[in-house]
Amino acid sequence: MSEPLLSVRDLEKSFGEGEARATVLRGIDLDLQRGELTALLGPSGSGKSTLLTILGTLLRPTSGSYTMLGTDLTAASEAERTRFRRENIGFVFQFHHLLPDLSALENVMMPSAAQAGRETAAMRTRAAELLDAVGLADRRKYRPAAMSGGQRQRVAVARALMNRPALVLADEPTGNLDRQSADDVMALIDRINAETETCFLISTHDEHISARCRRRIELLDGRLARAEPTPA
Ligand SMILES: Nc1ncnc2c1ncn2[C@@H]1O[C@H](COP(=O)(O)OP(=O)(O)O)[C@@H](O)[C@H]1O
Ligand SMILES: [Mg+2]
Repeated sequence: MSEPLLSVRDLEKSFGEGEARATVLRGIDLDLQRGELTALLGPSGSGKSTLLTILGTLLRPTSGSYTMLGTDLTAASEAERTRFRRENIGFVFQFHHLLPDLSALENVMMPSAAQAGRETAAMRTRAAELLDAVGLADRRKYRPAAMSGGQRQRVAVARALMNRPALVLADEPTGNLDRQSADDVMALIDRINAETETCFLISTHDEHISARCRRRIELLDGRLARAEPTPA
């Protein structure tokens, strides 16, 4: 098999000190390949968000190693991690986190525009194509407040893809959506995953969502296990 996209070994994460110290992740080993579509399961409080935040380089592990695309992200400086994150990782959260005063198009452009410190015609074109791809070509000028929850989350997916990341981390992306909107967002992720080879890791409690992922892993007691599909 070719080199994995990312590789995590014996990753541990504790919060707090002394008696208040709580160990959330206790020895995580994980490889993700390019183009994988994986569900991250586990009960509430099991550490799913903590793991996604570490993989997103927004939080450092207490110990263990994390390598992605040949870069040792545990040894890297904060500046290097920030640069790496902007170039290679997209995020979708449970709440869309769109900027309320920006249009859908401007929100999608944000990751590139913020990085470059300006907007370019190429960014506008790319953002418009992404809005097309998520079925919102006619909503370019709409602000988040003028869109439905499902539409806002599709804008958030488009934004996550703006910089052509190799990895998209989605933390309960459909947790706040009705059934139909959740299925629409998942269908979209499925299609983008198949078309672009973007690797998705999606934390979810929703069996409809996890059933559509090609691989399922589960956090239990701070460790990862393979989760079998729920019998239909
Ligand atoms: N910044 C933090 N400081 C202290 N404890 C935290 C912090 N972040 C998460 N935790 C704790 O880590 C555990 C796992 O949380 P989390 O990763 O949010 O789980 P999940 O996403 O699976 O619900 C919880 O007990 C939570 O209280
Ligand atoms: Mg969580």
